[in-house]
Amino acid sequence: MTRIKQATPPDLDAFLDVLSAATARLHARGINQWPPRFAVSKVLPDIQAGRAYVVRDEQGGAVGTAILSEHGDSDFWTPDELAEPAYYVSKIATVDGYSGLGSALLDWCGREAARRGGTLLRLDAWRTNSDLQKYYLAQGFRHVRTVELPHRNSGALFERPARNVTTDAMRDHGLADASPTKVR
Ligand SMILES: CC(C)(COP(=O)(O)OP(=O)(O)OC[C@H]1O[C@@H](n2cnc3c(N)ncnc32)[C@H](O)[C@@H]1OP(=O)(O)O)[C@@H](O)C(=O)NCCC(=O)NCCS
Repeated sequence: MTRIKQATPPDLDAFLDVLSAATARLHARGINQWPPRFAVSKVLPDIQAGRAYVVRDEQGGAVGTAILSEHGDSDFWTPDELAEPAYYVSKIATVDGYSGLGSALLDWCGREAARRGGTLLRLDAWRTNSDLQKYYLAQGFRHVRTVELPHRNSGALFERPARNVTTDAMRDHGLADASPTKVR
């Protein structure tokens, strides 16, 4: 059974490894999303701020990642939207063999957001990746709009209500227990 924990700096390499494994899977399918390895600067500040989570299997191997932040990206979301009680997911990824874990992680992020007073779970997805966008629609997200900025590849904005519920997907993947979060 997998377990989720708040990532700490020693988890950095494992966190980046999961992102690289997910990226390699996409690149092998010809989907040009994400760099082969994210720069440390794209993840470490969130780990240090207590916003990053890593899912590990029974042997301790990292198999899933997510960042959950109360701060939205002002390139994409308007000031009015940023003032709303929303939480923002990014760097959600899984390794091979864990199909369904990502959906459970989204549910977990929604529960976590709701428990902290958030009413919405939001994310921005790769603009040109229609399959990924279909995935989020299938997960119950609404397409808010797509923002096109020359210096950004993402910008397809999605949101769904944040619900304080424990789903079967969370139970199936060991994410049902009390939150491991220490909110700083
Ligand atoms: C997105 C993710 C976390 C979802 O995990 P999950 O809920 O366990 O779902 P699965 O991995 O089984 O994927 C579900 C479907 O979405 C597709 N999909 C997932 N990520 C995709 C992507 N980036 N581009 C295109 N299709 C993608 C899968 O191919 C699969 O399609 P299928 O049902 O036709 O086989 C996981 O697929 C992943 O790590 N993807 C790569 C990283 C990524 O794109 N993260 C999101 C960034 S916004």
